[in-house]
Amino acid sequence: MSTNNTPHADHEVDSYTGVSTTGHSWDGIKELNNPLPRWWLWTFYITIVWAVGYCFAYPSIPLINGATTGFLGWHSRSAVVQSLTDLQKSRGALMQKLASTPLDQIEQQPELLAFARAAGAAAFANNCAPCHGAGGQGSPGYPNLNANRWLWGGKLDQIYQTILHGARSGDPKGHQGSMPDFGKAGILTPPQIEQVANYVRSLSGLKTEAGADLGAGAKIFADNCAPCHGKDAKGNIKIGSANLTTKVWLYGSSLKTIEAGVTNGHGGVMPYWGGRLDNTTIKALAVFVHTLGGGQ
Ligand code: HEC
Ligand code: HEC
Repeated sequence: MSTNNTPHADHEVDSYTGVSTTGHSWDGIKELNNPLPRWWLWTFYITIVWAVGYCFAYPSIPLINGATTGFLGWHSRSAVVQSLTDLQKSRGALMQKLASTPLDQIEQQPELLAFARAAGAAAFANNCAPCHGAGGQGSPGYPNLNANRWLWGGKLDQIYQTILHGARSGDPKGHQGSMPDFGKAGILTPPQIEQVANYVRSLSGLKTEAGADLGAGAKIFADNCAPCHGKDAKGNIKIGSANLTTKVWLYGSSLKTIEAGVTNGHGGVMPYWGGRLDNTTIKALAVFVHTLGGGQ
């Protein structure tokens, strides 16, 4: 095989390119003798050798059941199993540490905190996000868990208890108590409800209706609402009565929404998770929620 373009003595030289021809001619069309570069050919041969070696070393040739196994014994499934066991081993150690560390000592240990937050985030996405939103931002009726406005308390242990037992969840240890239906029960008339709703809006600096009698609203509040929401309207985490002086709302701040709540009452259900999720996961969830940004 010739790898240069020196004209063959016995072959005709193409007058246009100066390259010799191979002597093949088809219907007057002649083939120029331009062989492949040597480096290209060698690369080509090496890939062939490599491929044959690979076929012997690794599973490659399909058979009726499976494939040839290859002398290295490598197996895609066993490789996955191995990396999974490695992962579980490293995770298992942290999981055990999380299980055995008291709740109030988790956040002081950076590695454990990071692990608890990651495990909590995964459990949150699976169990909590449908109601509380992917980032815990909430929606009407479902509290925002980032906002540092807590119905049932924002300390780590309080959050843990809420997740464990829920609110109005059917768990006897869960939070109880709800907002009465002052309108439906005939305790307050619609005009009184309008007055107290205006007063409630004034507590967080929201605009009130023109001509609203805030003094009358304040009196209705003191008589009917203060026992649960407090004289200062800052709520009581023992009964989950909302703080009405912040700009964060569970159900909404419009006059209509507040009136509807006072008319029909409220009592949102937060499910209990004790017995549904293991205690280590509940600890991780409590840490995750506590460190979302609104924790106390
Ligand atoms: C079916 C809907 C639903 C699911 C699922 C749910 N929650 Fe809740 N959650 C609620 C509601 C509703 C409330 C408010 C209860 C109330 O009005 O007192 C609440 C309240 C809370 C509170 C108390 C907030 C506060 O202001 O004190 C925390 C903490 C909480 N949820 C965490 C979780 C976590 C963690 C999960 C997942 C394990 C979860 N929730 C799953 C509906 C849900
Ligand atoms: C027996 C206790 C109780 C009394 C009395 C009570 N509330 Fe409530 N209120 C609650 C509870 C508990 C909640 C939270 C309900 C929930 O989480 O679903 C609440 C929630 C609210 C909310 C919703 C806050 C938000 O963030 O959306 C408003 C507004 C409110 N109350 C106003 C009033 C007014 C006005 C009165 C008096 C007319 C009153 N409440 C009397 C217990 C009470």
